[in-house]
Amino acid sequence: MKKCRFCDSSAIVRLPYANLSLCGEHFKGYYIGRIRRVLDKHKIHGEVLVATSGGKDSMALLHALSEISKVDDRANFTAFHINLGIFDYSRKSEEIVREFSKKLGVVLIVYDLKKEIGYTIPELIRVSKRPPCAVCGIVKRWVLNKVAYECGFDYLATGHNIDDISTILLKALLSQDMYTILRMQSEFSPPRNDIKLVGKIRPQFYLSEMENRLYAELNKIPVIGEDCPLSKGATLHKYRSLWDHILKTNPVSQINFIRSILKLREQMAAFKQPTHLCKKCEFPTESETELCAFCRLIDSAGKRNTETLGLVS
Ligand code: AMP
Ligand code: FES
Ligand code: ZN
Ligand code: ZN
Repeated sequence: MKKCRFCDSSAIVRLPYANLSLCGEHFKGYYIGRIRRVLDKHKIHGEVLVATSGGKDSMALLHALSEISKVDDRANFTAFHINLGIFDYSRKSEEIVREFSKKLGVVLIVYDLKKEIGYTIPELIRVSKRPPCAVCGIVKRWVLNKVAYECGFDYLATGHNIDDISTILLKALLSQDMYTILRMQSEFSPPRNDIKLVGKIRPQFYLSEMENRLYAELNKIPVIGEDCPLSKGATLHKYRSLWDHILKTNPVSQINFIRSILKLREQMAAFKQPTHLCKKCEFPTESETELCAFCRLIDSAGKRNTETLGLVS
């Protein structure tokens, strides 16, 4: 391995897209610098709710934001965890997020799905025809926005990384899924108070899973080691490995791929943001029907429950 670009130590990582080799200490500085630049670029200030799942991406994000807040008080960060009721996996995730937030001295809000909406993710998956991760995605998006909005946060920060985003877009392109391409959130979206939509920031939008994992390892950040048991066999996992091959040919292809799609999207007249509120929950939806995807899901769960209990003739 080569020497670090900034000191005499041996490099522990090479970042081909930037033609940069770094030692552990300089990598940590580089990583925090990348996150800080995203906050600067979008002038993030005020109260930020950090969606923390217990996975390496969001745990690395929470750590980096807490480091930044030690030297810079433009924003205040609060951790937020949803217990999705996915058996042992959710129990362990909540525990790990609780312990880590306490260690960092960051305030944590925990939302127990079963207690708050009456259903766990496995229960909702049973009543829906959609794939498990799609059901879970609808619920997470709705809860994250609702809680951030109702608790008065200016922004919601999530731990999406470039591998997640480029794989979702690649799969969507290869399956003519225009809806996903049009709806995909970018690095930043401003608050829209008129439709109760909180501002969103994805500070790791251009950071890879490998970089997040390395940052977590170097800082001894505890993470939930296992994958969600419900996402096993998800087709997205199969598409992800395609990037390994493409990146060997062109290390900046992933960044360029996302930028190209964002540029194309800007030029498309059809690109639209949610513009109206769901008739039931009164939170934003793009749906042409009166109810948002979350409320339709909850309605079908309620219907199924009463059917099971024999209350519907
Ligand atoms: P995923 O949808 O699982 O790829 O997660 C993307 C991002 O959503 C994570 O990096 C977190 O910021 C957030 N997130 C996912 N699951 C949870 C959860 N159970 N509680 C809070 N935030 C979550
Ligand atoms: Fe959502 Fe597994 S965390 S399906
Ligand atoms: Zn160095
Ligand atoms: Zn609704």
